[in-house]
Amino acid sequence: MALDLKQYIASIPDYPEKGIVFRDISPLMADGAAYTEATNQIVSYARERNVEMIVGPEARGFIVGCPVAYELGVGFAPARKKGKLPNETISASYSLEYGTAELQLQRAAIKPGQRVLVTDDLLATGGTISATIEMVEALGGIVVGTAFIIELTDLKGRDKLKDYDILSLLKY
Ligand code: PRP
Ligand code: HPA
Repeated sequence: MALDLKQYIASIPDYPEKGIVFRDISPLMADGAAYTEATNQIVSYARERNVEMIVGPEARGFIVGCPVAYELGVGFAPARKKGKLPNETISASYSLEYGTAELQLQRAAIKPGQRVLVTDDLLATGGTISATIEMVEALGGIVVGTAFIIELTDLKGRDKLKDYDILSLLKY
């Protein structure tokens, strides 16, 4: 029987602010079998879409995207928080469930026409992933899918991603 990945997500009430139930992937990452299972599910999804490059936002998008890139034998480009990347970058601003921020991607990260999978641990309002997609497309990449371990359905991030295919392994 396949692993029940929901058993590896911790739910922490009132973190980081009162009223938010924080869904934490740490126990999933800490368990080799669960991390491998989650990675393999995203790898299968990526293979169906002939993904050539993966982009994930700092920080937890790296945790999800890098093992998938390794398994596929494709590259990974980090979308980093403002001021962390050298050389020419492009930027996109977004608002979070709590706060606002700006992400950057190196211009050289994406080749025009490349088939890109965007990964993150969690889809909440969709601001982070939309900003990441905006930069990939500005550089000529084709976003052929988005993949998350968790989707918080009440926050309706899916509505911001109407033009994109979404894989979410677990819904809350
Ligand atoms: C969290 C999470 C997603 C994003 C989801 O990251 O890892 O990237 O928020 O929220 P959204 O769909 O409303 O944009 P956070 O900004 O806390 O950064 P971190 O990964 O560096 O902790
Ligand atoms: N858990 C983890 N990360 C998050 C959450 C959450 O509930 N909301 C926005 N980012």
